[in-house]
Amino acid sequence: MVDISVTLAGVPLTSCVYNASGPRTGSSAAMSKIAKSASGGVLAKSATIASQKGNDLPRTWHEDNGKASLNSEGLPNSGIDYYIDPKTISETMGESPTKPYMVSISGKNIADNLQMLQKISSTIESGSVNIAAVELNLACPNIVGKPTIGYDFEQMEDVMKQVASLPCFSGSKPLFPLGVKMPPYFDRPHFEMAAAILNKYKHIVSYAASINTIGNALAIDYHAEMPVIRAKGGFAGLSGPAVKYTALANVKQMRELLDNSIDVVGAGGVQTGRDAFEMILCGATAVQVGTCHWTEGPGCFDRICDELKAIMKDKGYGNVEDFRGKLKEWS
Ligand code: DOR
Repeated sequence: MVDISVTLAGVPLTSCVYNASGPRTGSSAAMSKIAKSASGGVLAKSATIASQKGNDLPRTWHEDNGKASLNSEGLPNSGIDYYIDPKTISETMGESPTKPYMVSISGKNIADNLQMLQKISSTIESGSVNIAAVELNLACPNIVGKPTIGYDFEQMEDVMKQVASLPCFSGSKPLFPLGVKMPPYFDRPHFEMAAAILNKYKHIVSYAASINTIGNALAIDYHAEMPVIRAKGGFAGLSGPAVKYTALANVKQMRELLDNSIDVVGAGGVQTGRDAFEMILCGATAVQVGTCHWTEGPGCFDRICDELKAIMKDKGYGNVEDFRGKLKEWS
């Protein structure tokens, strides 16, 4: 028997493959389909304090050959209260959930992130909902006039410092596991700086998910002689198979640099069981699927899990720990 269950940030997942925040995660109707699939958990769309419509259309694009996608959604979402409402969670997960429900936040500023974390804490403390983990998105590239927090190390450190001072993180153990969604880095000193900040706050950071989309990419409509996307002059987040190699490198570097107490979640261009296998070889504890879920729908989780199990069976691996982080080196 091949076992693809894992424990991520102390949370048991029946499958190491689950959805990335973003595509098809905005409503309980969409998320309930993930809950019914083989996905190891359900992660909601990054929330802001208030609901918002996001950027003007067109704001998404898929290359004809399926190798790359662009989005400049601008965080359309129903607001944090919706994603932590017991009604939303029971509509999403059903009455007797067998997998974890997780929330993502992407505030417009530090104060918004702190406020959302406090709302989540109070809701968890009230005992009215099961929220297994919270992902703090430090990597949205699509907000007009705002930099990507994970590229501004001073701001990133300030966010972590202020988050750490919240009551939910000031006890001996955080009230809930906190993950951070990271942007892609491309140069060793940047990996080192980002990892050093996360390591400094290892008492509150349970996992780092690498990577969000590659920000500020540009695709052009050759006929119209215009960008395919309207907002931000067409500059948008690049995703899909084209980013897998950057994602693998980010997972590998983060796993090397982060304290062992911080799990790494691999995300970026995963569309097959083989992609998930490669992420785990590079050190990922679990693997998120975003663009493939967007284009293929929630059936992708069943397919990717089956493909991963087939690869493991073929190679004689009984569980994920048998090969996690065991990428071989050239002699
Ligand atoms: O590519 C992305 N698009 N990453 C995010 O974090 C947010 C999303 C959006 O809504 O723009």
